[in-house]
Amino acid sequence: MRRTTLVLTSAALVGGAGVIHLAVAPAHFQEFFPFGLFFVGVGVAQLALAAALALRPERWMLASGLAGSLAVASLWLASRTVGLPIGPDPGRPEEVGMADLVCTSLEVATAASLALLLLRPPVPGRRVRRPWPAMPLVLLTAALSACGAEAGASGMPWAFDVAPSVAGQDGVSVTSLTAVPGPQPVRAFTLVAEPGPHGTWTFNGTVPGPELRVTQGDRVRVTLVNRLPESTTIHWHGVRVPNADDGVAGLTQNAVPPGHRFTYEFVARDAGTFWYHSHQRASEQIARGLFGALVVEPRGGRVAQDVDRALVLHDGAGPVHIPASPGQTVRLRIVNAVVPGMDGGPETVVLEGADDRVAALDAGTVDGAVLGPERIPLGMGQRVDLVFTVPPAGRVALYEETLRGRETPVERTFDVLFGATGARPRLVATVGSGPAPAASGFERLPLFDPTAYGTRTTNPFDGAGFDATFPLVLDEHPGFRDGTVQLVHTIDGRTMPQSVVFGVEEGWKVRLHIVNLTAEWHPIHLHGHFLTVLAVDGHAATGAPVALDTVLVAPHQTADVAFVADNPGLWMLHCHVLLHAEMGMGALVAYRGVTTPYEMGERSGNMPE
Ligand code: C2O
Ligand code: CU
Repeated sequence: MRRTTLVLTSAALVGGAGVIHLAVAPAHFQEFFPFGLFFVGVGVAQLALAAALALRPERWMLASGLAGSLAVASLWLASRTVGLPIGPDPGRPEEVGMADLVCTSLEVATAASLALLLLRPPVPGRRVRRPWPAMPLVLLTAALSACGAEAGASGMPWAFDVAPSVAGQDGVSVTSLTAVPGPQPVRAFTLVAEPGPHGTWTFNGTVPGPELRVTQGDRVRVTLVNRLPESTTIHWHGVRVPNADDGVAGLTQNAVPPGHRFTYEFVARDAGTFWYHSHQRASEQIARGLFGALVVEPRGGRVAQDVDRALVLHDGAGPVHIPASPGQTVRLRIVNAVVPGMDGGPETVVLEGADDRVAALDAGTVDGAVLGPERIPLGMGQRVDLVFTVPPAGRVALYEETLRGRETPVERTFDVLFGATGARPRLVATVGSGPAPAASGFERLPLFDPTAYGTRTTNPFDGAGFDATFPLVLDEHPGFRDGTVQLVHTIDGRTMPQSVVFGVEEGWKVRLHIVNLTAEWHPIHLHGHFLTVLAVDGHAATGAPVALDTVLVAPHQTADVAFVADNPGLWMLHCHVLLHAEMGMGALVAYRGVTTPYEMGERSGNMPE
């Protein structure tokens, strides 16, 4: 390679590293002031060296550039392996990110090219400098550096206060929104979060965690004991808990550190099938197994079923057998905890061997006709209660299959090529004895439509004016977030934790107009409230109005849903596809005047998704 090419390439490499150091300096000032100074110092020195090399390269510059690059790269290596002896977390190795990886690669390349130059003495008398051959390498380095700098500047915020108190104004802190004392019978449970076999994380040693069963009106008191290597929380999905017991790290509490405990308390106001799961780094912690079923039986006891079982669908679950005799009625409470792929495609369940009724969707009871075999779609987080009678002969079987989310011809070809269409319905449960009925061809079965099931009765939103209508535009684009390139998932153009905030007041009737601009499915979940579906794609719902907490929005669909603001606090409204939430798809419903003392971000370690 020509000497000029090598000199200019070295200048571009070291300059690129300098730009990245300056881009990440602000975050380091927040973390630890001396680190910020160090990053500015290194960045400025590298840019100065780049300029000097490009203008008038001297031998001493090559030597000091080589030594400096190696020194900075070694420091990085130490910080990522053994940890630095100073800083906010002395001795603790930091995580490798995209920005620092790009930056260090540039420095190693700088060192290599400077070493080559040092080994190659200049040819005397040749003073012609032709810079053009160096251009492709210089441009490549510039592009790489720009990505590194952009990634470095897009890190998780150091500290983000979601609902700060306003000076001079009376506010209510979420910490005061707890269960009011009362005479209800107390049902106490302990859930120990601890590592299990094969890399799982469990509650009390099992995945799913133990089924918690209480009666409507009980005072539920659950102590979380954290024996994991990292902090965690428990969220009561679908339950209208007091805000302080909602379990969202950085919003309603600090994540519970290893070795600590936290007690949740709420009165189970509503009967139904619910579930509980971690809401700290949920995309990893739920996937590892931190979830379980919560059943609230109606006041006055079970309703006319002989067998009442909760069944949590999750990855890798083998078939469950439920004993029952012919003629007995069975209520199967199905919770979808299957972690979906990027397309967010729901699970579909089909009952074979008996005609069933859908008795509840999420926690909302429905009174509907008996169904033949139909595929009931469940977005992650949704539940369905099926009621049926065990036939005189044979077993009843429940099959499950993932609905493919993307349906363009290209995507289907892709599926065929990679065998995705070959996915067989999985047998997830059998009820009763005798031979299990086979699965019918799933594709031919009708898809259950929850908005057209059950008898239409009046609902609180009929003819009602709304106090507020908020658009909820779901979209995605490739971009930089959390220090890497990802498919950024937005609600109204924003991402968690700097999300859009919907301000409401107690008593308001609120309508959400959800517009899905993506080719993905999004189960949209609102904490602490019930949602009623008003219309889908502009067509009014014709079935029984049902109280959902998670609404499944299909690719390119619109949905109008409504809720009554009857539970003051700060509540998350997010997609329950864990990947989408992690990539930003969350918003906040905030009652006016409610503030939180907690923060999300690197400093507190509170990362709800
Ligand atoms: Cu089931 Cu915010 O979660
Ligand atoms: Cu989603």
